[in-house]
Amino acid sequence: MHLAFLGSGQVGGALAVGCVRAGHHVTLAARDPQSPAVLAAVAREPKLAVAAPAEAIAGADVVFLATPFAAATAALAPLAPALAGKVLVDCTNPVGPGLTHGLRSERSGAEVVQAAVPAARVVKAFTIYGFENFENPAYPGYGPLRPAMLLAGDDDRAKSAVAGLATELGWEPVDAGALSASLQLEHMTLLWIKLARAQGQGSDFVWARLRR
Ligand SMILES: NC(=O)c1ccc[n+]([C@@H]2O[C@H](COP(=O)([O-])OP(=O)(O)OC[C@H]3O[C@@H](n4cnc5c(N)ncnc54)[C@H](OP(=O)(O)O)[C@@H]3O)[C@@H](O)[C@H]2O)c1
Repeated sequence: MHLAFLGSGQVGGALAVGCVRAGHHVTLAARDPQSPAVLAAVAREPKLAVAAPAEAIAGADVVFLATPFAAATAALAPLAPALAGKVLVDCTNPVGPGLTHGLRSERSGAEVVQAAVPAARVVKAFTIYGFENFENPAYPGYGPLRPAMLLAGDDDRAKSAVAGLATELGWEPVDAGALSASLQLEHMTLLWIKLARAQGQGSDFVWARLRR
């Protein structure tokens, strides 16, 4: 598949590198092709292409949004026509003071993103852990069990495409339901950050689904 990344930092860079290594054509949709984040990602994986955002998105089947949440709607606005009909993977998190939900839990960030680009097919995914787990999702020693990647969205075909990517990257995709379920995913992220960073438990843990 052809993938584009709006935001090439800790999250975007890690996922972009992983997607190239999984065999996809990946373009960093860079506002500044010389930004430290873009240069660092390309240094890690020279197969990454770099292009202006509108050009990168025009050629993409799936677009990842990995900017700060506060920057997302302004970054998306001029790209709305190019994003029409595209799968848009929302990796952002609205984080408020004291690790509270940045929109006071009244609405998910993903729904705000969807409202900014109504014709895009938004899927919330790759957000419930720190970037370290996107760089390396391997948890050996658990047999066939894979770490869980929860996703949410209103478009089943879009969710299926993102679930396929998650599987290729080493995750077990878990469909959490409609895009409105992103609010719960965003709270999972806040919980992960509290445990990993605020409590000092470190980043080497993930959620998994055990079934019987
Ligand atoms: N860090 C984590 O562990 C983690 C985990 C899960 C989710 N998230 C979420 O993922 C998102 C990205 O986090 P990150 O840690 O990867 O951030 P980061 O390392 O600071 O990277 C941010 C990227 O967004 C781009 N950007 C910033 N402002 C922009 C704007 N106005 N327009 C277009 N692009 C802009 C930057 O562009 P330049 O390259 O030009 O600087 C950079 O490539 C955030 O919403 C965060 O909440 C983070």
